[in-house]
Amino acid sequence: MQQTKIQSVCIVGLGYVGLPTAATFAARGFDVVGVDINRDAVDRNNSGRAHIVEPDLDMVLGAAVKSGKLRAVTTPETADAFVVAVPTPITHDHKADISAVEAALKSIATVLKRGGLIVIESTSPVGTTERAAALLRKLRPEFTFPDTHPEQSDILLAYCRNESCRGARCASSLTMRACSADSTDGAPHARKNCMRLLRLDRCG
Ligand SMILES: NC(=O)c1ccc[n+]([C@@H]2O[C@H](COP(=O)([O-])OP(=O)(O)OC[C@H]3O[C@@H](n4cnc5c(N)ncnc54)[C@H](O)[C@@H]3O)[C@@H](O)[C@H]2O)c1
Repeated sequence: MQQTKIQSVCIVGLGYVGLPTAATFAARGFDVVGVDINRDAVDRNNSGRAHIVEPDLDMVLGAAVKSGKLRAVTTPETADAFVVAVPTPITHDHKADISAVEAALKSIATVLKRGGLIVIESTSPVGTTERAAALLRKLRPEFTFPDTHPEQSDILLAYCRNESCRGARCASSLTMRACSADSTDGAPHARKNCMRLLRLDRCG
């Protein structure tokens, strides 16, 4: 399956990771839809003012919204690539709660198209990508996934660790993405397409 040329990106979870990511992708010329279940956050971001405090974010977000390259909604829309950036809190018995990741994947499944790329950016335990493939296969059995078709799958799935730190998420977002793309897990094909999504193909 040939990966679709990535032009549109849907970022699910518009918090400290997702919102700067959405704004910087929009600044790089992608058509970005940001998704959050928090309606107040969606409304605020659509006004061009961030609902979170992060240096330089209002400037990048405001320009992205004004240019029409970024808008926020409450449910995912179809896109060439999806980025999952929802919370993964630690439970009282010290396990990672990935229920929000699963909820995000379920909402993406309804709008997933053949050739689509999903990048899980939420901090997740080993095995989450395989669980994601199993969940998505149940919901969209007509598609193949990288766990059973590593070289040629209809849907590309990758994990891309986020290493952003408070106060520098916007300014250094693209640089950090260059580093985290190096640790991208999953099929080689998905990694190549992550690099393309991040426009790093000429650096790799
Ligand atoms: N904040 C950081 O500096 C940082 C650094 C590295 C890794 N991470 C990881 O990145 C992930 C996201 O962290 P964050 O700090 O951006 O979280 P956050 O709490 O700031 O934002 C998460 C957003 O996701 C939304 N959300 C929750 N469930 C959703 C769903 N099903 N669909 C759509 N939106 C949904 C929430 O309303 C919230 O706005 C976590 O796994 C975290 O561990 C964060």
